[in-house]
Amino acid sequence: MSWVSVAPAESIAPGDFATVELADGFVAVFNVDGEFFAIDDVCTHDGGGLAGGAVEDHQVICPRHGARFCLRTGAALTPPAYEPVRRYETRVTDGMIEIQEAP
Ligand code: FES
Repeated sequence: MSWVSVAPAESIAPGDFATVELADGFVAVFNVDGEFFAIDDVCTHDGGGLAGGAVEDHQVICPRHGARFCLRTGAALTPPAYEPVRRYETRVTDGMIEIQEAP
């Protein structure tokens, strides 16, 4: 997957998030203190959406059962999730957030 433009950077303020639809599903994009992070919007525990979950210390907390995922790596940090969530690299080009699946 090459870089995909997903949203204007100014449309997601620090502390905010957005979901975008790609060909194979939804991606949650978070702005943490001006830095963008993107992961699949699907909890690996039971498929809940992760967008809208509370964000603390670069971790998103699944709104359904409370599993924590690292926004930097996609790692599942606490039960009941054990598998990582797919993560994307992000960059801003000409004011647009672009994402690319992380290796
Ligand atoms: S669906 Fe996310 S912790 Fe259960």
